Amino acid sequence: MDLNGKRALITGASSGIGRAVALRLAAQGTQLAVSARRPDLLEALADEIEQAGAPRPQVLVADLSQAGAAAQLASAGIERLGRVDIVVNNAGGGLGGQQTTVGDRDEGRDVFELNVWSPLALVQRLVPAMRARRMGAVVNVTSMMQLMTWPFMGHYTASKAALASFTETLRLELRGSGVHVLEVIPGPVDTPIYGESHLVPGFEAAARGLRPGRPDALAKRVVRALRRERKRLIYPGILRPTYSFPSVVRAAAGFQVGRVKADIDPDDDRVVRSGSQGDEVSRQARAAWERGERDLGRLRALARSGQ
Ligand SMILES: NC(=O)c1ccc[n+]([C@@H]2O[C@H](COP(=O)([O-])OP(=O)(O)OC[C@H]3O[C@@H](n4cnc5c(N)ncnc54)[C@H](OP(=O)(O)O)[C@@H]3O)[C@@H](O)[C@H]2O)c1
Repeated sequence: MDLNGKRALITGASSGIGRAVALRLAAQGTQLAVSARRPDLLEALADEIEQAGAPRPQVLVADLSQAGAAAQLASAGIERLGRVDIVVNNAGGGLGGQQTTVGDRDEGRDVFELNVWSPLALVQRLVPAMRARRMGAVVNVTSMMQLMTWPFMGHYTASKAALASFTETLRLELRGSGVHVLEVIPGPVDTPIYGESHLVPGFEAAARGLRPGRPDALAKRVVRALRRERKRLIYPGILRPTYSFPSVVRAAAGFQVGRVKADIDPDDDRVVRSGSQGDEVSRQARAAWERGERDLGRLRALARSGQ
């Protein structure tokens, strides 16, 4: 796929992986509409892209945890860009809480709205026109956590597994249509959401020893995978074999949970919303991570204090 002159809508572009993908796509000559909830960060990204000599991206503010917002975003994307050739479903977030506490509460449903229903709504609104033009691409950012879950993370990991399954199905449905489907499957990547994951009881111990990848390195690979029309991109590459052996990964998770069981309180009934507009403890963890703090002990203490 030649990315020069294509028009792309990117969700979750205010930070981390989405921001890095926007910068890389703009450098390829792709015209952009960038979306998230924080307009100041989106405008700063647009400034940066414009100053680098590319056309200024359209800024579209949307809260994709709200039903109906993705449909409105699709319409705004078409209106502002004229057409959408590439949709990057990157916005995502999680929730900390056990199933026996969260169940189907609104906080859990919001995770599915953001991570599953919004990407699907964008696909439904944008792909038919791509198909009619026999040209386009859908990039869905899932997670390696589609294979491996962890206590308190069920809503996040189940939503990513659902998006992964929808992505595989979409690829089969669009076979021969000229519309390419790429699943981006990140393991740990050094972004604020990864900082937040250290709040999950015992999780840091499981992830210990795995060096997180860099958003820009992943974005570079996303662009390459799009140009080469690859089906899946697993990053960091060291995790590639892991994807082929989900049962081994699950067995390892079970072993790890046993190893750190002292850190996991079965009576812990906290429900922690993640993200830049999540609960105070999450916002503190994100801010600390963005400042470059890597004091995991402090992050864990923050989590325990419930501040
Ligand atoms: N970093 C990792 O280790 C890792 C691993 C596996 C998968 N992922 C996935 O990679 C994707 C990007 O995450 P990241 O690592 O770049 O984390 P991040 O820096 O926290 O970025 C998340 C992006 O999603 C946007 N977002 C969150 N909630 C939203 C909402 N309700 N409505 C609209 N936009 C929303 C955020 O923007 P606003 O806050 O401004 O709305 C932000 O731009 C996510 O889907 C995540 O699940 C990340």
